[in-house]
Amino acid sequence: MHLLINTGGGDAPGLNAVIRAVTLGALNRGWRVTGIRYGYEGLRSGDPDGLIPLDRDRVRGIAHLGGTILGAINKGNPFEYPVRRGEEVVLTDVSEEVLARFRAVGGDALIAVGGDGSLRIAQRFCDLGLPVVGVPKTIDNDLDGTLFTFGFDTAVSVATEAIGRLHTTAESHRRVMVVEVMGRDAGWIALHAGIAGGADVILIPEIPFDIGTVAGKIQAREAQGRGFSIVVVAEGAMPHDGDRAIRAHEAGRDVQLGGMGAQVAEQIQALTGKETRTTVLGHIQRGGTPSAFDRVLALRFGAAAVHLVAQGLFGHMVGYQPPDMVPVPIRDAVARLRRVPLESGTVRTARTLGICLGD
Ligand code: F6P
Repeated sequence: MHLLINTGGGDAPGLNAVIRAVTLGALNRGWRVTGIRYGYEGLRSGDPDGLIPLDRDRVRGIAHLGGTILGAINKGNPFEYPVRRGEEVVLTDVSEEVLARFRAVGGDALIAVGGDGSLRIAQRFCDLGLPVVGVPKTIDNDLDGTLFTFGFDTAVSVATEAIGRLHTTAESHRRVMVVEVMGRDAGWIALHAGIAGGADVILIPEIPFDIGTVAGKIQAREAQGRGFSIVVVAEGAMPHDGDRAIRAHEAGRDVQLGGMGAQVAEQIQALTGKETRTTVLGHIQRGGTPSAFDRVLALRFGAAAVHLVAQGLFGHMVGYQPPDMVPVPIRDAVARLRRVPLESGTVRTARTLGICLGD
């Protein structure tokens, strides 16, 4: 059995742990493993350096490292590949080239480690006859069929630590601190980090907010002698009478979100008269060493993915449904975005704690 593995889309802490577990799991069965560099790019390009044979030495001491030894890319969808023609960028289907090279290198199965975008691509390859097993990766935690994706816990820990640091300076200066966190159209990072970090306001995409309500909460705290406030804003949050803040449009990929934190801060300052500052955590949430929880989760995902290949369960992704790892059809996992349920226990906890959710 010759296994190929790639890490598609944006990176997330824990990718290297998955690569290690897949490699050791496969080698221990007497299989061969090859890593594809930069998503499908290493296969498509035909570049000999695009494929890396993975052996014990190559995956030694990498489980605790952030990033991915295979490289990541989020503009490399082979079904809509951006090809420059003169001044224009034309989205072109190059999937046949990828399939042909997969066969040429003697691939028997592909382990695709990715978020919703990368797993949608994996499903399309599966429909074309490529045997694929998926592993759910994203700091956003927005994939269905798994309670957690790896990377999420690390992102929440980083954001929580940042909120803690903002607390002390906010209190010293009696300021409002707005912190914008990632998560795309799901509010998992904002909600979990906000609760863990003791935020006063948490704005998530699932609950369109009223800026007057947010300002009211800050003024109420002021009246109680609490001269500072912490406001956590998910990058995909939106006012009930407006839209998401889009930073940029790029060919061949989703829009880039960003800027809602600054918008909210400006309005808070105008409505309350309080000095307000914004911090955008950005890619700090994605970089660096994975938390212990993410390492264990990623190693479990990698080991389980090898088991799915051994069982011939192609077209499935490993799902974490505690206490078990279960096969979930990739099609189901990507059918809808897993957003924060409004009636969830975590949302109720935030409300019980008196945290304002902007509604
Ligand atoms: O999906 C992971 C994620 O980090 C999102 O939270 C964020 O919106 C996006 O990727 C950022 O993408 P890029 O790395 O391309 O800026």
